[in-house]
Amino acid sequence: MRYHSFFTDNYQSKNQYIGNFKDVELYLKREDLIHPIVSGNKFRKLKYNLLEAKKNAASVLTFGGAFSNHIAATAEACKILGLKSIGLIRGEELGEKLDQTLANNPTLRYAHNKGMQLHFVSRTDYRLKEKLPLINTLKEKYPALVCLPEGGTNELAIKGCKEILNSTDDFDVICTSAGTGGTLTGLIEASTPSQHCIGFSALKGDFLEKDIRRWTSKPNWSLETQYHFGGYAKVNSELIEFINTFHATHKIPLDPIYTGKMLYGIFDKIQAGHFPKNTRILAIHTGGLQGIEGINALLKQKGLSTIS
Ligand SMILES: Cc1ncc(COP(=O)(O)O)c(C=O)c1O
Repeated sequence: MRYHSFFTDNYQSKNQYIGNFKDVELYLKREDLIHPIVSGNKFRKLKYNLLEAKKNAASVLTFGGAFSNHIAATAEACKILGLKSIGLIRGEELGEKLDQTLANNPTLRYAHNKGMQLHFVSRTDYRLKEKLPLINTLKEKYPALVCLPEGGTNELAIKGCKEILNSTDDFDVICTSAGTGGTLTGLIEASTPSQHCIGFSALKGDFLEKDIRRWTSKPNWSLETQYHFGGYAKVNSELIEFINTFHATHKIPLDPIYTGKMLYGIFDKIQAGHFPKNTRILAIHTGGLQGIEGINALLKQKGLSTIS
């Protein structure tokens, strides 16, 4: 992709054939190749939000945890577009020894190096994030401040996610990993009535179905909630082994928080005979590969095998 036309190209990712398993064909849409950091659904979610911000010469405030793909992607995309970015980060302890945090945390170091102004808040304050006095202070300082939610999902993000699919994607089933459900909603909105969209939830809890119903009235979708591996950013050795085997076999890296869990789930469902014979599945690689380095550091600390 030519970065000078970042966000204005109508970028379409190629679908890579993975194989035929038990008479089910699996393809992977390589959204991870869009950009090393503004990859996959981050690119799609930020596109219309940042084009709007650029029109208004706004500064961009957003929220995230210590390994957030969204934080790294927002910092990079704002840098590309010449916008000021501000990140409110969960975990005040990270801000106490900033030098150490930046030395140890690749995501925050990346965001910082791209010019993102980082503010660290306690977990309690983070829950109230959009209502914190700090937000008013920032609004006074940067009058044209645009606030993007954690994970980046809003109406403009869903509009961008609709562009993941195109008219030649004539698959029976479309799969994505799901956090806030924004990416899945975009896919549902772009799908035809004969296609079925499945979201593989990366988080524990049953809030997702209600959230998605707020954004779409279409019925052709479902959620798989059995493949979160204990919750957000939790992994086990079986998942790591699956990711490493998939990488070695297909030469495609997967992140352990989202795409690794989705593909594990898809293969599990295929093995269990969930999909009828001759089903053609398109799974979306939503990127997130920047998170591997941080997760590997944690795995190493625990003496566990890492992602290769
Ligand atoms: C790499 C990756 N894949 C999938 C998701 C889930 O997307 P959504 O929050 O739109 O459900 C995220 C989080 O935004 C992500 O970073």
